[in-house]
Amino acid sequence: MAAFLLDVDTGIDDALALVYLAALPDTEFAAVTASPGNVDADQVARNTLALLELCGRPDVEVAIGARAPLSIPLLTTPETHGPQGIGHAVLPEPQGRLSPRNAVDLWIEKARGRPGELTALITAPLTNFALALRQEPDLPELLAGVVIMGGSFYYQGNTTPTAEWNTHVDPHAAKEVYAAYRGRPVDRLPVVCSLDTTERMELRPEHLRLLAEAAGASVPELVLPEQPEGQRSTSDNIVIRHLSDALRFYFEFHRLYDQGYLAHVHDFFAAGVAAGTLEYSARPATVDVEADSPLLAGTTVADFRGLWGFPPNARIVTDNNPAQAFTELVSTVGRLARERG
Ligand code: BDR
Ligand code: CA
Repeated sequence: MAAFLLDVDTGIDDALALVYLAALPDTEFAAVTASPGNVDADQVARNTLALLELCGRPDVEVAIGARAPLSIPLLTTPETHGPQGIGHAVLPEPQGRLSPRNAVDLWIEKARGRPGELTALITAPLTNFALALRQEPDLPELLAGVVIMGGSFYYQGNTTPTAEWNTHVDPHAAKEVYAAYRGRPVDRLPVVCSLDTTERMELRPEHLRLLAEAAGASVPELVLPEQPEGQRSTSDNIVIRHLSDALRFYFEFHRLYDQGYLAHVHDFFAAGVAAGTLEYSARPATVDVEADSPLLAGTTVADFRGLWGFPPNARIVTDNNPAQAFTELVSTVGRLARERG
């Protein structure tokens, strides 16, 4: 049984990551915490609770920690993920309640209670994780592993020409996190899924069609570029309907930026790395973050050659296999969608 501690800013691709992990056999969510990022923390928590309920995981503890980045005001991105963070999807109001606990305390309590058992996955700005590392510097030893979606190394940014969104929202937190890993053994270092490889994960309408087929939906799921923007899915399968409405928005957003009618599903890839189900390779590097320069805020730099003279503090994913990833997504999420009807 794989057990996860998640920190998310749900978010269309965070949603896909959650649904994918929930669909895997024998996965446990020790807790899922909400970071402000794509939308504010309260909306992230609502989306997360609703999605977990949709996937048949109503009992997972969902908590909020920080409500803003460490040192700068919060920036959200309704143009990328829609006003509610979930594209065109309108999720049912969650029945369950938000945990009264603070996300950072919850992470520490869970990690201390189950040393070496929990894999952490962060698909959001690193604010909560930086706060957790301040409070419990032994967190890297307590966790079984850490996977981070963030950064852009030898690749252009998606928020500024050099910065990736999660790191750009809270560059000070990211800088603290990488500093906290300096000098740790290589097998303890976070695995970092940056835009260099997450932008290879191009989910297309064809994948949605295959997913609906795997789910046994009675009508083919045809999301087409010529259809009016915002057209809603009529699928009889509730999981497919919500995923399709969410992803259509992401297709429209990527097309607006001349990337094609497709969606870069960054967080889904990071989830598969955390679960050990998706193929990838990684290389140790020393990572630092530019936090304060107006020109380069949120820019991540990787030293693969030891030119700075510091030991590695991260393992950066350098290769992955999109075809394998989408085959895995279709069969795993298809099975869950079929069960949930
Ligand atoms: C990251 O930014 C967010 O908008 C996505 O959910 C993903 O985590 C990609 O840069
Ligand atoms: Ca995210």
